[in-house]
Amino acid sequence: MHKIFAKTLFLGKNLIFLPQCHSTNEEVKRFSKSAHFPEGSVIWTDFQEKGRGQQGNAWMSEPGKNLLFSLYLRPKQLLPADQFELTIVSSLAIQKVLQELVPDRKVEIKWPNDIYCNERKVCGILIETSIAQGHIDQVFCGIGLNVNQSHFRFPTATSLKIETGKDWDRSVILEKILLSMEKFLHHLKDPDHDLWDTYNSVLRWKGEEHVFRINAEEVSACIVGVSPTGELVVNLAGNLNTYKLKEISFVH
Ligand code: BTN
Repeated sequence: MHKIFAKTLFLGKNLIFLPQCHSTNEEVKRFSKSAHFPEGSVIWTDFQEKGRGQQGNAWMSEPGKNLLFSLYLRPKQLLPADQFELTIVSSLAIQKVLQELVPDRKVEIKWPNDIYCNERKVCGILIETSIAQGHIDQVFCGIGLNVNQSHFRFPTATSLKIETGKDWDRSVILEKILLSMEKFLHHLKDPDHDLWDTYNSVLRWKGEEHVFRINAEEVSACIVGVSPTGELVVNLAGNLNTYKLKEISFVH
């Protein structure tokens, strides 16, 4: 499973494959304390004993079936207030690769950074950061992509195998994601980039009326888009309201 990615510039040049670990995000944090662990390093594994998802949830994955990896980034001069840019880059990079792999399915981003394929979750992203001197110093970007797993506990989950009926070579997909991530990180440096518009153009449920839970109440509302700082903007009974992650959840 150890492969050199010839096409990338810096992502995955230092690639560490661990047959098994607690969590690749934790491993990247641990390795980052050692002297030689360059930006762009990637740790991937076949199985996580304590895979972590967003909001304290566990991330479960059958051994050897899926892509479970974390990237180590050191963005220059990124302020904590701009952290949503990392969400945009990582989710767009994956959305684009998956849409190319599965062209006959709709691949969208569920705010903030779940990737949905054919209305079910195919990939989750966990971005953790450390701050130094008022800037984002280290980024630990963990990605769990369902590739060859055929059965899930939750009916809301899917995989590339379920959607296409075939097995995929995980290292080929990993290389495509790293290349895509490099391209989007490069776009981010352009002060006139339109990544926020691109993100909004593939946002799941945008412009549709759906049921959300807001303040423990179920209400019907319409997603207008995501603000540049990453809040969800929703039209609720004619008012444009913005919500942070814990303030709103998707019902159906
Ligand atoms: C989510 O809840 O949607 C985020 C899931 C992120 C899972 C990945 S798998 C690789 C990395 N290591 C972890 O422990 N979590 C992330």
